[in-house]
Amino acid sequence: MPTKIWAHRGASGYAPENTIPSFKLAVEQKADGVELDVHMSSDGKLMVIHDETVDRTSNGSGRVVDMTCQELKKLDFSNGMPGYANVRIPTLKEVYGLLKNTGLIINVEVKCDVVVYYGIWDKLIELEREMGMQGRIIYSSFNHFVLMKLREIDPKAKIGLLYAEAMVDPWIYASYLHADAIHPHYRVALDCPGVIDGCKKNGIAIHPWTCNDEQVVCDLAAAGIEAVITNYPDKAREAIKNI
Ligand code: G3P
Ligand code: MG
Repeated sequence: MPTKIWAHRGASGYAPENTIPSFKLAVEQKADGVELDVHMSSDGKLMVIHDETVDRTSNGSGRVVDMTCQELKKLDFSNGMPGYANVRIPTLKEVYGLLKNTGLIINVEVKCDVVVYYGIWDKLIELEREMGMQGRIIYSSFNHFVLMKLREIDPKAKIGLLYAEAMVDPWIYASYLHADAIHPHYRVALDCPGVIDGCKKNGIAIHPWTCNDEQVVCDLAAAGIEAVITNYPDKAREAIKNI
């Protein structure tokens, strides 16, 4: 199977990250999937944003967990990207609505690294069912307990273990947790001995992040990884077209 291309926070090299324009652009650039990040607002809505606060990517300030969905929706998330203005933060439901009729896979990264959003796991599975998105979602998180909660609620939920540092024989840990995939930093995937081979032999998919170097995208594709996560889906597609 050719390596799939997943647009990191949408086509975030060109459009404001984690927004409807960046996901639309990912579809236009023929990405096979998108990666996005989810936090929860003070009124319990699933909000698509990377950081715990709105400070870096919007014209506002404060923590997502302290603001209602309505308060968050008043802010502009165009984030200085040329050609964009008045871009609103999307809810996860809005992104599912946008992508439902495409074939794209959605990698939902659950951000429970700093603030742990108790109950987010129930809301995620409920929304996946409500929107008829079963089979289209793979959940990932640096907080692996969250992935276990998702699996407890829905034994069919697909999960990928995010990690950034060198790990010995990660497929053993992944198999133990019945994970579908590992989501290592791309350097870890390439540089740690035996990772790709070991995962392949044990049926664990490899979805490395976030690779924006076309030569390295080629190296990953040549090694047979299942999907690469990148800010530039068009460049990645072009880079691997002859592999
Ligand atoms: O899910 C891959 C990647 O997005 C993990 O790191 O910080 O970009 O969410 P981060
Ligand atoms: Mg992410």
